[in-house]
Amino acid sequence: MSAPYKLLIHSANQIVQVVSNGETAVSGQQTRNLSTIDPGPGDGGCIVIGRDGNIAAVGLNSDIKDAYMGKCENVYDATNQSIIPGLVDGHTHPVWAGDRVNEFAMKLAGASYMEIHEAGGGINYTVEQTRNCSEDHLYDLFKKRLYELMRSGVTLAECKSGYGLDFDTEERMLRVINRATHDSEVKMDVSATYCGAHAIPKGSTAEEATRDIIDNQIPKLKALCDSWELHIDNIDVFCEKGVFDVTQSKGILEAGMSAGWKLNFHAEEFNCLHSVEMGAQLKASAMSHLEEISDEGIQAMAENGCVATVLPSTAYLLHLKSPPVRKMIESGVPVALGTDFNPNAYCLSMPMIMNLACVNYGMTMPQALYAATINAAASLGKSTTHGSIEVGKLGDLVVLDTTRWEHLIYRIAGTADLVKHVIKSGEIVYSKD
Ligand code: NIG
Ligand code: FE
Repeated sequence: MSAPYKLLIHSANQIVQVVSNGETAVSGQQTRNLSTIDPGPGDGGCIVIGRDGNIAAVGLNSDIKDAYMGKCENVYDATNQSIIPGLVDGHTHPVWAGDRVNEFAMKLAGASYMEIHEAGGGINYTVEQTRNCSEDHLYDLFKKRLYELMRSGVTLAECKSGYGLDFDTEERMLRVINRATHDSEVKMDVSATYCGAHAIPKGSTAEEATRDIIDNQIPKLKALCDSWELHIDNIDVFCEKGVFDVTQSKGILEAGMSAGWKLNFHAEEFNCLHSVEMGAQLKASAMSHLEEISDEGIQAMAENGCVATVLPSTAYLLHLKSPPVRKMIESGVPVALGTDFNPNAYCLSMPMIMNLACVNYGMTMPQALYAATINAAASLGKSTTHGSIEVGKLGDLVVLDTTRWEHLIYRIAGTADLVKHVIKSGEIVYSKD
């Protein structure tokens, strides 16, 4: 007979549960301290994961270990190690071909992101490369990127389409994203986002593109979702001066909402268009970037329970001003983090993102971990299953080769050395050695 439990981890120096009372998003005063288990001398932290992949027990060795020892298929001794929940990447653009290393050189020489975009480079360059790439090749590239993210501790990632812009390529990108869910080699949960409104396709106006998305792309995609041929969780729009304006964005988001998708879009990155107020009114799950958000926008997000997903790699690369993260947290907005992995910001490391968030945005280390776990899960509507170490949640964990979890942020680079194991639903899916 097989053991009733899948995995028992014992003797950890520290377990960072993040939250321990079923909280589904965290802001304000509560971000000061994380829920942790810090065992006294001679004791240790213990986690048990059931056959269903969910956490069955968490506590001290002295309280729970003996009750489960002998009933678990695998036993892991975490002496001198610390454990955090699997990290959640709240914002990625991981399906594309080609690269934009030449544009990196242009930016170093002083060109701005929007200058390159307006000259036909940027997203539209990647669109050309992606349209000409087969689904299988796109999937190979995507899978490698997911693996890289997973090695940095990520067990759930939001993944956007958005380098097709036409129906066929957007659909292909979404199929690529969906493939990860059915591939037993991919050990990561994925939240799929349709981002057909990522740029205005060459030869179209913003109005034409908006109509194509609302009247052609969304109905066709919805039909595919209704017949279970495709799965889409969220809809995204790049709401920005020179891309989609607030009215166009609102129309697209409303059409997505009618199709049953959550709203999670790019807002107030280079200009304050007050798109956040529009998103809050529509009860968007999350809005991203927010460098230029207004005080009224912060208030609207707080009142409507929207998550602010901030992206410090992009702000760092493009020398953008920092979003008012502290003000958002103090005002009651849950702040989440994402790598924003894309051909402009080539970063597949959530620990690096947390370091940037602390140093550049003035977040504390607990705030950065909240943002990279429970709040990022909340931005995807998944914080009842992901983002903390609590009984009943998925057994998604990162075992760190250090007695104090903060080393994951403190060490600027080389954190790959610290991630000893990544555990997904109770299975060790990555080991450093
Ligand atoms: O979030 N701002 C729009 N989208 C991406 C960039 C995509 C690209 O440049 O390819 C972002 O930074
Ligand atoms: Fe983005």
